[in-house]
Formats: sequence, C-alpha cells, structure tokens
Amino acid sequence: MVAKIKIKIILGSTRQGRFGDKPASWLYEELKKDESIDVELLDLRDYNMPYFNDSGYPSMHKGPYADPIVQKWSEKIDEADAFAIVAPEYNHGYPAVLKNAFDVIYREWNNKPVGFVSYGSAMGARVIEQLREVAIELQMAPIRNAIHIPFEVYMNAVGKNPPLDPSIFDPIRKSPMGDRLSGFKDQLLWWARALKAAREAKS
Ligand SMILES: Cc1cc2nc3c(=O)[nH]c(=O)nc-3n(C[C@H](O)[C@H](O)[C@H](O)COP(=O)(O)O)c2cc1C
Repeated sequence: MVAKIKIKIILGSTRQGRFGDKPASWLYEELKKDESIDVELLDLRDYNMPYFNDSGYPSMHKGPYADPIVQKWSEKIDEADAFAIVAPEYNHGYPAVLKNAFDVIYREWNNKPVGFVSYGSAMGARVIEQLREVAIELQMAPIRNAIHIPFEVYMNAVGKNPPLDPSIFDPIRKSPMGDRLSGFKDQLLWWARALKAAREAKS
C-alpha cells in the first residue's frame, strides 16, 4: 500500500476575530476528500512558542528542544511531507508569529514543498512573495501555484465562524484562470511525492 502524503496546513494568524481560520478550515475539508492525503490543520494558537532567542542556530541543533512547545512543533513539522500555509498580509509582510514559527526550527522544514494561501487588498501577493524567499532559505521548495482569495470571498466569509458553506469559496475553483484549488493541490502533491522519494533514497 502506498503511504499517504502528509500535508500540514499551518494557520498563520492568531489574532482575535481573524479571517484566516475560514480558508484554513475550507482547505482542510477539501484536502480531506482526497484519500491519498493525510491532512492536519496546525493552528499557531495551539503552539504558543517563545520568540526565538536561543544562543545556538536551529540549523545546527541536535536532539530535543528545551522549550516543550517548540519540541512539539518540531515533531509536527518533522512528520510532514508538505505544507499549505494560510498567511495574512500585515503591513505588506508576514505576521511575526508565523515568521517565528519558521525560525525556531530548521532541519524539520528541509527538502519539503510549501504552497501559500493568502488574502487582502492585493490578495496576499506581496506576503506570498516574501514567504517564498524565507522558504528557500529553509531549504524548502515553494510551489508556483498559490491560492489568492478574491476580495468578494473575503467579504462573504469575514466575521462568520467556520466551517462555512463551501460554496462561498466557489470563485476560487471557478476563476477565469481555472480551478486554483486543484492546480495548487496537484503541484503540492507532485513535489511532495518527488521530494519524499528523494529524502527516503538519501537516508
Ligand atoms: C496589523 C495589520 C496590518 C495589515 N496590513 C495589510 C496589508 O499590508 N495588506 C493587506 O492587504 N491587508 C492588510 N491588513 C488587512 C488584512 O488583510 C485583514 O485584516 C485580514 O483579515 C488579516 O488576516 P487575519 O484576519 O487572518 O489576521 C492588515 C491588517 C492588520 C491587522
């Protein structure tokens, strides 16, 4: 039997009244429909990590982390084959809480693909470009396709509690550019399978 591809969705906003939980929950339900995927939603609210202040470099780190929540985070990221990151754009950049979640560990991200989901006045285009640069430094493979949530979807979903009526997200699947969810998923899976095979061949 072929092992399922483990995709972790990371919800990168922790603020009260956040929008990010709506697309994260929608994406979780959509990916769950695919039997080749083992999907888990990681909410950074559940990983209240200290701001990175270790004397050593995470890239040199060996063994368990001193902070128990960082250790738990490390184990979750380590078991993943791929990531879908739901990221808001704050002041044309990424939220500090999300950057910190990247910075506290290193090896656990390496050689794995990552795709981004974002929203906002420029549909998250700026934050996704910045996150791609961060991902490369973490030796990840940022995929080309992203899910830029149209403003009409944002307005229809904001203020509501997930799970929402999935039809609210239909414009993502019926965009003039095609079905952006399936393009995103196909690319993430392709890279996840290729890099999983490469990681396993190396070890
Ligand atoms: C501190 C802050 C800065 C923001 N800066 C931007 C921005 O640069 N670009 C943008 O499109 N939206 C910006 N917004 C609006 C956000 O896109 C919107 O509030 C969104 O809901 C934030 O994501 P969240 O609700 O999941 O935290 C900003 C919001 C906040 C709270």
